[in-house]
Amino acid sequence: MAGVTLNGLYKRYGSTSVLEGIDLDVEDGEYIVLVGPSGCGKSTLLRCIAGLEEITAGTLEIGGRRVNDLSPRARNVAMVFQSYALYPHMTVRRNMGFALEVARRPKAEIREAVEDVAAMLDLVPLLDRLPGQLSGGQRQRVAMGRAIVRRPDVFLFDEPLSNLDASLRHHMRVELKHLHRRLQTTVFHVTHDQVEALTLADRIVVLHQGVVQQVGTPRELFDRPANTFVGTFIGSPSMALLPAVGAGGTVRIDGLEGELELPGEGAMTLGLRPTDIEVGRGPLRGQIEVIESLGAEALLHLDLGPDRKLVAQVPEPCQAQPGEVVSLLPRVVHRFHAETGERLP
Ligand SMILES: Nc1ncnc2c1ncn2[C@@H]1O[C@H](COP(=O)(O)OP(=O)(O)O)[C@@H](O)[C@H]1O
Ligand SMILES: [Mg+2]
Repeated sequence: MAGVTLNGLYKRYGSTSVLEGIDLDVEDGEYIVLVGPSGCGKSTLLRCIAGLEEITAGTLEIGGRRVNDLSPRARNVAMVFQSYALYPHMTVRRNMGFALEVARRPKAEIREAVEDVAAMLDLVPLLDRLPGQLSGGQRQRVAMGRAIVRRPDVFLFDEPLSNLDASLRHHMRVELKHLHRRLQTTVFHVTHDQVEALTLADRIVVLHQGVVQQVGTPRELFDRPANTFVGTFIGSPSMALLPAVGAGGTVRIDGLEGELELPGEGAMTLGLRPTDIEVGRGPLRGQIEVIESLGAEALLHLDLGPDRKLVAQVPEPCQAQPGEVVSLLPRVVHRFHAETGERLP
């Protein structure tokens, strides 16, 4: 088991810069989830930690030891890929034990380690099958099992649940949480699934164009996003961003009637989450364009004026009708700098 420290970590391919100075201190046993748009450098970061890519500048420490120049195997990390990357001609048993076989561990030890982990993951009945004879979910569990058998200091998961259907993904999410509680191993987990990030992470790292935007607990990121990027990236449906101007304790959204009691002078950007909008009273007015029912809740898509849209999430049954004009009260308002997008104090 080990903590991981990244210090000013850069990765460049020729003149293409992918990671732009990543600083991150991860405690032993922490579950870190990395999120960010496609191409922002998530996989590159995992591959740098794994030793599959050379680090251009900066240092990487695992368990307090600089490992920049260590081979992947010497780092004692285990990676699970979206594609699972199982050896197709090897049985599940051999796939799971292969790393130990390569490390020339005694046969009896390998058998015991594989059977232990197979029991943990309900894989015992599948041990003598080939990957081609397994379902997607079973293959995913074998890939996970293969990583666990090695008892690594750090797990690196690159979108490991992305190829599963929704219900299996939910099941595996719960199983992962359970496994982590048992094993207490440090995890870096890349995902583009909001729910996965919010439910699994001790802390979430939001990456954008190779730069860390914010690191924090799911609650911190949701309640106090550091900038408009994090504000709109975390939370679904997204926070609406509206340009506004403040003066003397009130703020008015550009082009709209109605004042909000908020501090701040001059131009700013307001961030409003669907879950924070009360419908039926308040200083703003909007026309309902579309109602999406999600069962327990409904999403009201509201038109407040030219280029001023907002989504409000309300409990079902919802009495509102499309076309209706309603009053709106934002219960929580995030304020950001009009130019930099940074959160205002
Ligand atoms: N071997 C490589 N050579 C050049 N560019 C690469 C290489 N690998 C990745 N990149 C670039 O690095 C960026 C980040 O890629 P990646 O880490 O895979 O993003 P993510 O996993 O966040 O979607 C992308 O723009 C990608 O094109
Ligand atoms: Mg990737």
